[in-house]
Amino acid sequence: SCGIDRELRAPICCILGHVDAGKTKLLDCIRRSNVQGGEAGGITQQIGATYLPVQNIRERTSLKAEATIKVPGLLVIDTPGHQSFRNMRIRGSSLCDVAVVVVDITRGRGLENQTIESLDLLKHRNVRFVVALNKVDRLYGWKTCPNAPIAKALKNQSDDVRSEFKWRVTEVVTQLKENGLNAALYYENKKIKEVVNIVPTSSVSAEGIPDLLLLLVRWVLEIMMERLTYVNNVECTVLEVNEDKDFGTTIDVVLINGALRKGDQIVVCTKQGPVTTNIRYLLTPYPMKELKAKGVYKHHEELKAAQGVKIAVRGLRHAIPGTTLIVVKPGDDLEQAEAAAVQEINKANSLVNEDESCESDDGTAIQEMSRIKTCKEGVYVQASSIGTLEAIIEHLKSLSFDIPVSGCNLGPVHKQDVMKATAMLKRKEEYAAILAFDVKVMPEAFDLAAESGVKIFVADTVYKLVDSFTGHIKKLKE
Ligand code: GTP
Ligand code: MG
Ligand code: NA
Repeated sequence: SCGIDRELRAPICCILGHVDAGKTKLLDCIRRSNVQGGEAGGITQQIGATYLPVQNIRERTSLKAEATIKVPGLLVIDTPGHQSFRNMRIRGSSLCDVAVVVVDITRGRGLENQTIESLDLLKHRNVRFVVALNKVDRLYGWKTCPNAPIAKALKNQSDDVRSEFKWRVTEVVTQLKENGLNAALYYENKKIKEVVNIVPTSSVSAEGIPDLLLLLVRWVLEIMMERLTYVNNVECTVLEVNEDKDFGTTIDVVLINGALRKGDQIVVCTKQGPVTTNIRYLLTPYPMKELKAKGVYKHHEELKAAQGVKIAVRGLRHAIPGTTLIVVKPGDDLEQAEAAAVQEINKANSLVNEDESCESDDGTAIQEMSRIKTCKEGVYVQASSIGTLEAIIEHLKSLSFDIPVSGCNLGPVHKQDVMKATAMLKRKEEYAAILAFDVKVMPEAFDLAAESGVKIFVADTVYKLVDSFTGHIKKLKE
C-alpha cells in the first residue's frame, strides 16, 4: 500500500482444534497429500510444518490471471488435537502470525475441550484466527461440488440442507459468543477486522477450500502488513528436536524472519546452557510436503523466511523446543548472544517449574530435557522427538495412579538404555521397563532386556503404549 514496494514473507498459520475435527485432512486436501491416512490410529502425534507456495494457492483459488496475491506463500503448522499434546499446541500458537481453528460442523452441544483450549491459547497470545467449519459434506443430503467456493456449493443444495446448515452455523456462533467471541460467516461479516470469520469447508470434497485460502492470504495483509514485511534480522524458534538416521540429532525450526546460511554460527538454548555451534546442513522438505515426514530433504546454502527448516549440527542433543535460535553474524557480539540464550533458558525453566510434580535426580543431566522432570524411581521412556517424550510423560502424569519417569532418551533403544532401566530391578521392580515410541529397538537391547528382566513396551500411539504398560502393572498387582 501507499505505493511502497515492500518484500513480504510468508505468513505463518497454525492449525488448531479438537481431536478429529479434520485439521490434518484439511491440509491434505490443500496439499493433495495423504498424511492423515498414514497416521497410526488416525491421530496426529507430532507438530508439523508445510510450505504452500503462492502458485499452488493461486491454482486452488481459481483466481483470474491478473489478480494478485501479495504474499509469497503460506507456512502452515499442523498440531495434534489429543489432550496430552498440549505442549505442541502451545508451541504452534506461540510462533504463528495467525491461526485456523477447525471445528466439526456435525458435532452439536457446545464447543469441544481442545477447541476451547485452543481459543484460550490464542487469546492468551493475542493471535487472530478464522474458524474453518469443517465437514459440511456430512450434512444429511449434501450434494458434493468438488473444489467449489462455498456460495456456489450452497446454491446447489436442497432447502433442507441449507436450513440445517443455517441452524448449525447459528449454533456455533452462539457457542463462540458464550466463549466471549463475536463471529460470523465470512461472506456476511461486515467487520472483518473485529468479528471472527467463519469459513465452511469440506476436507473431503474441498468445498470452501478456495474461500479459506483466499481469505487467509488477503485478510492477513489487512491486519498485519507491517509484521509480514521481510527484514534481515533473524527471528527463529525451535519447533522440535529429532533423531534422524542420516543426520543424527536435528533441530526443526521455524524461520520467522531473516535468512539462515549453511555454516552460520548459532547459539542454541539447551538444558545445560547455551551451546555455540555452526549450521552443518540446512534442509527443507519439498514444497507442499511435511517437515516432520521422514523423507527426502532439499539441501540449501541459504534460506529466507518464512520457512520450516531442519538444521543438522554436530554433537547437540538437548535443544529446548520453544526457545529462540540465535544467529551470530560477523561483527555480532557472541557474549551478548550467549547472555540472551541464558535468559531464554531461564524463561523455559521457570515454565517447567510451574507444574513440577516430583523431585529431580540431579546426577543425570542427560535426562533433563525441555519440560521433562525425572524421579529416582520410575519407568524409562524413549521416543523419536522431545515433543513426543513430553506428551508421553504428560499422559503418564494424567493417569489416576501416577507413573513417574526415572529417565528418558531420544532415538533407537540401545543396550545402554536397558542398562539404565535395570537400576529399577532392585529399587522398584515394576518400573524396570522401557516405554519405546516410534523408535527402533536394537536386537542386543532386546537380548539384554530378556536376560535381565527389563520389560520393553512398543506401540505406535502414545495411548496404546501407556495402556499396554498399565495393563502389565495391573496384572502384576492381581
Ligand atoms: P487429530 O490430529 O487426531 O487431532 O485429528 P485431526 O483434527 O487432524 O482430524 P483428521 O484429519 O485426522 O480427521 C479425522 C477424521 O475425520 C478422518 O477420518 C477424516 O477422514 C475425517 N474428516 C476430516 N475432515 C472431513 C471432512 O471435511 N468431511 C468428512 N466427511 N470427513 C472428514
Ligand atoms: Mg491431525
Ligand atoms: Na485424527
